Amino acid sequence: MPYTEQVFNLPELHGLSTKQIEVHLKLYAGYVKNVNAITAKLAELMGDSEKNALSLAELKRRFGFEFNGMRLHELYFEALGGDGQIVGSLADALAKQWGSLEAWHNEFHAIGMMRGIGWVLLTFDVKSQTFHNVWVSDHELGHLAGLPVLMAMDMWEHAFMVDYVPAEKGNYVTAYMKNLNWSKIEERYTQVQK
Ligand SMILES: [Fe+2]
Repeated sequence: MPYTEQVFNLPELHGLSTKQIEVHLKLYAGYVKNVNAITAKLAELMGDSEKNALSLAELKRRFGFEFNGMRLHELYFEALGGDGQIVGSLADALAKQWGSLEAWHNEFHAIGMMRGIGWVLLTFDVKSQTFHNVWVSDHELGHLAGLPVLMAMDMWEHAFMVDYVPAEKGNYVTAYMKNLNWSKIEERYTQVQK
């Protein structure tokens, strides 16, 4: 199978329980499994693409959901386990574009408070050298073409329901931000500029 489950060595987090993370990691494993299953099934159906046109069309759409679900969760878990302190060139660049780091943070948090399930992403457009805070519905709707994701905050209820009720999702956003490992996010920022 082309995709394997990534292992995340997470320390104890602040405001996100071990049980919450365990439940969430199991869901992540499901996405990896489904990406592999759909990949195999698509190859099989392509054997007679005319006869299987309907199934192919449905499964091709489903692939976008499962693949993005897998990848976004990897970006999410990889960046947890830090102290939430934004430093370095990324901090300077965000502050420059938004006027202050606080202004960027307030916008990111506000997008997290939108109704519905999905993700808030911090992305970077290499071509114009600008950041975008993006809302993605489900896992696949609303991505900005070609923009690498520097940070992905899961706003599906499964990401916080063990620890917070839906009305408390602002507390989840705050907890998430407090656990971010900004050196990992900075590393992604440096890589995309090469
Ligand atoms: Fe999730």
